[in-house]
Amino acid sequence: MTDKYADNMTRHASDAQRLDEQVDLMIENIGYILHPSIISALPKAPVIADVATGTGRFLLHARDLYPDGSFDGSDISRAAFPPPGDLPENVTLTVLDVKKPVPETLHEKYDVVNVRMLVAAMLPEDWAPAVVNLSRMLKPGGFLQWTECDVVSIKQLRGRGDSSVENIRFLQETFNTAIQEQISYGWSTLPTHMQEAGLHPIVRDIVSSDRIADTRERVTTNSIRVALAWARLMAARGTPGAMTAEEVDQLETNVQKDIESGAYLRYDIHIICGRKPSKQMTHSKL
Ligand SMILES: C[S@@+](CC[C@H](N)C(=O)[O-])C[C@H]1O[C@@H](n2cnc3c(N)ncnc32)[C@H](O)[C@@H]1O
Repeated sequence: MTDKYADNMTRHASDAQRLDEQVDLMIENIGYILHPSIISALPKAPVIADVATGTGRFLLHARDLYPDGSFDGSDISRAAFPPPGDLPENVTLTVLDVKKPVPETLHEKYDVVNVRMLVAAMLPEDWAPAVVNLSRMLKPGGFLQWTECDVVSIKQLRGRGDSSVENIRFLQETFNTAIQEQISYGWSTLPTHMQEAGLHPIVRDIVSSDRIADTRERVTTNSIRVALAWARLMAARGTPGAMTAEEVDQLETNVQKDIESGAYLRYDIHIICGRKPSKQMTHSKL
């Protein structure tokens, strides 16, 4: 099993806590758990999958919306899964690689398949087959909801007249350069992939990472932790051109000062939803 994600990301206990916080902050800024057009079409007890689920946090939010629903999370790695005893009985977590054909037992099983923040695991050529693959999990009339961030145009901004942004900018630009082969895809290409996979209609919703201004500092600190974890991983591996562990520690201190001075990150969150045609619609076209 090739785990591209592990090239750049770590799976420590602290990463699970970061992922949980990231899910909560993103939901706060997006303003919904499922797109309103999905909510309006779902039954009272929907069957919902969250693929590349990380800690399964999204499913707990979805369960708050639909206490009688069924919720299946999956990920290529169990590392961030909570112990099974900590999960409600209608939430299950299992192993699934989005780059491998989904087992037939999962075909047409779900009203919704949700995916979020898979970019670090994906090469440009991985997106289209993954969309086709995950579409097979949808019941006719079911929805694929996929959320990715445009970090190509991420900005390091001053929140105050005298904020300093140089360290936060240096860290983010270094990280973006390292994964630049990957970050142009997904947020920009998913509508086309969904169309090509036969989903219709496709809805694209875009929201700012700081739509709720009160979340700015928390979003910034959370996002920065990704780049710092990456820098530490490269230092530990001795990757050519990487910072040393001491340099990363110093940079973290300086980045923290930037954030305290009011510097923050801002980027766009893209939520792309596509619906699998119902069998009736398919027949009526024939
Ligand atoms: C940035 S985390 C996002 C987790 C979760 N979706 C969230 O929003 O918090 C990316 C997740 O994708 C998982 N992942 C990476 N490659 C995968 C693959 N090929 N198939 C399934 N999951 C994968 C990782 O293990 C990790 O848990």
